[in-house]
Amino acid sequence: MTIRLPRGATLIVASHNPGKVREIHALLGPHGIHAVSAGDLKLPEPEETGTTFAANAELKALAAAKAGGHAALADDSGLCVEALDGAPGVYSARWAGPTKDFRIAINRVHDELRQRHLSGSPAAFVCALSVALPGGEHQTFEGTVHGKVVFPPRGEKGFGYDPIFVADLMTETFAEIDPQLKHSISHRAIAFERLLHSHIFDESL
Ligand code: IMP
Repeated sequence: MTIRLPRGATLIVASHNPGKVREIHALLGPHGIHAVSAGDLKLPEPEETGTTFAANAELKALAAAKAGGHAALADDSGLCVEALDGAPGVYSARWAGPTKDFRIAINRVHDELRQRHLSGSPAAFVCALSVALPGGEHQTFEGTVHGKVVFPPRGEKGFGYDPIFVADLMTETFAEIDPQLKHSISHRAIAFERLLHSHIFDESL
């Protein structure tokens, strides 16, 4: 089933991560969608029990759509480091610990690479975006941006692992580049582009 949301439709952004909510609001801005965040609606955060980004995005979107009574958009994303066999992957948020301190997560990536006598590694940011309706229909789109992880961390912009990620053909980390540039090339931007191509936001309706 193809989902269609008319101009002015309410869409719950099913994330409690302020960095992601900010980026998703920026992406939705031009499409006439009334975005509200799951945090503002005080919706509970479901446990991320999936083993893939797509499975977690789907379960978060479905839980928010059912609890909130509107269409919902969820993002599940993370950093996959080649030399760490794809870790932290779907555990990217968990590596930051209960205080969500990404210095801890970044140090863990660094330590695990050092144990393998490495100072960096090819890596990719992956994003799955899922749109769900309260009735259970859903569609999911994925985007990947390839690059490498570098140490020490550099830059103050962005969030999460941005200070250690340099995209292919770039020299600055995602935390050093202009946020507009990140929004145009990121894993989230690529997944969002695929979502737009599916015409979910039907601006003719
Ligand atoms: P989850 O999708 O809520 O499980 O969280 C994914 C985690 O991956 C986030 O908390 C970030 O740490 C990390 N992550 C996802 N996208 C990005 C990004 O664009 N920049 C930096 N870190 C990211």
